[in-house]
Amino acid sequence: MIGYNTLGVHILSTGSAVPDLSITNETLSTLVNTSDKWISTRTGIKERRVLPKEQSIIDLAKNASLEAINRGLLEPNDLDLIILATSSQNDLFGSASQLQAAIGANHAAAFDLTAACSGFIISLITASQFIQTGSYKNILVVGADILSRWVDWSDRSTCILFGDGAGAAIVQKNYKNDLLSFKLNTKGSQANQLSILYKINKQNIKIHKSIPFMHGQYEYLKMNGKEVYKFAVSQVPQSIQECLKLANLSTNDISWLILHQANQRILEAVAEKLSIPQDKMISNISKYGNTSAASIPIALHEVFKQGKICNGDIVVIAGFGAGLTWGTTIIQWNALE
Ligand code: COA
Repeated sequence: MIGYNTLGVHILSTGSAVPDLSITNETLSTLVNTSDKWISTRTGIKERRVLPKEQSIIDLAKNASLEAINRGLLEPNDLDLIILATSSQNDLFGSASQLQAAIGANHAAAFDLTAACSGFIISLITASQFIQTGSYKNILVVGADILSRWVDWSDRSTCILFGDGAGAAIVQKNYKNDLLSFKLNTKGSQANQLSILYKINKQNIKIHKSIPFMHGQYEYLKMNGKEVYKFAVSQVPQSIQECLKLANLSTNDISWLILHQANQRILEAVAEKLSIPQDKMISNISKYGNTSAASIPIALHEVFKQGKICNGDIVVIAGFGAGLTWGTTIIQWNALE
């Protein structure tokens, strides 16, 4: 909850990966009763990427991770820890160990962190704690999700929103500190607003000698769009204000605003509430839709790659989503000498 450091945390490099296959709004209109006009005006989304069946989330996470490792001029064996933020892992026991093997990071511990669209920001803060206590030097933080495999493609109220992707960042111990403050929140009483629930099949319940044996399966992603919208537009500006206060900054100090890419209208409403000019807000939602835990690191990588972020820039990053969870961190970009 604070921004005081014993050791500095530096974002060394980033990477991203999205599938080649793009599904446009026009194509979706042939699957469900919708239109490009409806989707564009209500969400800002024009297309989303979908992972083909022969590829897994690990393929995407691996490509994003290797790009971040290469750009940071590291070797996989330099990594001490891998945190994989995902809610669509291919193994409920955790997919981070598969990523560790895929990139050959033989000295790294690895674990999954499940917090839906807030997953990357919570993972980034988790990584910073390991660095600030002096435990680890190089941490790979990955946000990867393939919600195309968890949505009901006949439900027009949800399938239009989500896409697949992965983004990665290397967080490194440094004498300078980039991470000025953070704020994380959860409102579990509203968990039913956005969920992928596990349900027991009644016909699969067998009682043997009073022991209940049962088996079930996950349902499709379910969402109350209106409530999630209201939640994001009310909580995210407040979280950003609190985080700025912790860092002794004001909204005028913000150079760039990188929000979880859920809906263009949400992004604009948050910026407007905070009186942040729209040209400081990073948006790529038209190309990828909502890629859940991947959306923030994909956007961060785009702005780094385009050279938009300059030394000393204040970058506000905020995520929000299922849980309900939300979180903000303030970063001051420091180029290393
Ligand atoms: N195409 C055409 N019509 C659609 C549609 C689609 N894809 N989806 C819903 N509709 C219809 C509804 O059936 C409804 O019709 P009705 O008035 O005849 O009942 C009408 O459009 C309005 O639906 P509503 O759900 O009120 O729309 P909305 O303005 O709230 O927009 C969302 C829906 C999902 C775009 C919006 O609520 C949203 O973006 N919420 C936040 C979701 C989000 O970001 N989730 C992830 C957070 S991490």
